[in-house]
Amino acid sequence: MLTVDRPRPSDQVVAAAVDEPRLWSMHMDLAAIGATAAGGVCRLALSAEDASARSLLASWAGQAGWRLSVDPIGNLFIRREGAEPSLEPVVTGSHIDTQPTGGRFDGAYGVLAGIEVLRALDDAHVTTRRAIEVAVWTNEEGCRFSPGMMGSEAFAALRPLEKMLEVTDAAGVSVSQALPHVIAATPNASRRALGFPLHAYVEAHIEQGPELERAGRTIGVVTGIQGTCRLRVEVTGEEAHAGTTRRSQRRDALLAAIRMVHAIEQHVEAADPGDDVRLTFGMLKLRPNVPSVVASWAYFSIDLRHSSDEVMLRLAGEIEGICRKHAGGCEVQVTEIQRALATRFKGAAFDAVLAATRSLGYPYMELPSGAGHDARQMACVCPSAMVFVPCAGGISHNEAESATSTDLAAGTRVLARALYELANS
Ligand code: HGY
Ligand code: MN
Ligand code: MN
Repeated sequence: MLTVDRPRPSDQVVAAAVDEPRLWSMHMDLAAIGATAAGGVCRLALSAEDASARSLLASWAGQAGWRLSVDPIGNLFIRREGAEPSLEPVVTGSHIDTQPTGGRFDGAYGVLAGIEVLRALDDAHVTTRRAIEVAVWTNEEGCRFSPGMMGSEAFAALRPLEKMLEVTDAAGVSVSQALPHVIAATPNASRRALGFPLHAYVEAHIEQGPELERAGRTIGVVTGIQGTCRLRVEVTGEEAHAGTTRRSQRRDALLAAIRMVHAIEQHVEAADPGDDVRLTFGMLKLRPNVPSVVASWAYFSIDLRHSSDEVMLRLAGEIEGICRKHAGGCEVQVTEIQRALATRFKGAAFDAVLAATRSLGYPYMELPSGAGHDARQMACVCPSAMVFVPCAGGISHNEAESATSTDLAAGTRVLARALYELANS
């Protein structure tokens, strides 16, 4: 019997056009920019490495004929035009800035998976109704200019651009001073106003946790992101001679800070028998920070996260009291610098990711994200969703971070189908 070779639906053609070796090769090309001796990446926001990485992405976009634009906070957009340019685009993407001891996949995967989808659409000669844009969000990590998420928070009008531009790094360089060098790296990018209406947003990312690997699943359909509260504690004491000053006469800022950190940790331990609170003291600065002088100034960070906003905010509200109680003779200033409540992903974007995952038949699970992502901010302005793939041992924010080419390609096929669905709706 004559079998008619039924044309495969375009979304299957597009997913099948995802090229695993090409995707891996893009990761290695990008990872070479800021590569560290230990096999990780140090590509800080608005650094020369950030600029070089943007140039690389811009060269790929130019070769493919996709349009580039950049907004006032430096968010870079790579646009593949749709059949109906006036329709609100579908956006995907993530960040290319890293932690100082970052890995090759955190953020980079979301940007490169988006570019691979555009390439697969080109290879499959498929035109979508809506344009698809790949976003490179500025300063997601916030390690050089704190707090992070600057690009997506500015885009979603969650924090004033002016406030972000005046933030300085440890050397006193401001965002507004560093930005021009990075924007100059993509001279073919047209200038674009901050924020534009979009139809939906989907971000691919490594899980940065152990759940997918533990459960033997290839795809994570992300249900939401836990809340985060970021604080800074400034302790002011008095410099004194290490050899002549009695302990009883000292106002030692370091000892006071250590007492505060220990007391906060004890307090959270007692309040969180289930080990669900994520409490991190990642940064400590001292002055004068020399061996024979009593520290006059200590400055430390608190990163507090929990799936329940009520628990997170209650604990955050108790921190100042604990610090004051352990200040000794020092002054204390506790400042909340960022608060993001828990987010749930739902609606068309979430449904498209779930449907794409099921239709491709990958073993998957639904799970929340412990890490923060730009998708949280995008969920404030449009239907948003995330696709996770496993990373070895759940290790991330660590130079040993790794993911397999097979999993990265699987996540990209899910992304391709979901974006195809949304860009034709
Ligand atoms: O801190 C975070 O959760 C993100 O990886 N920057
Ligand atoms: Mn990330
Ligand atoms: Mn990160």
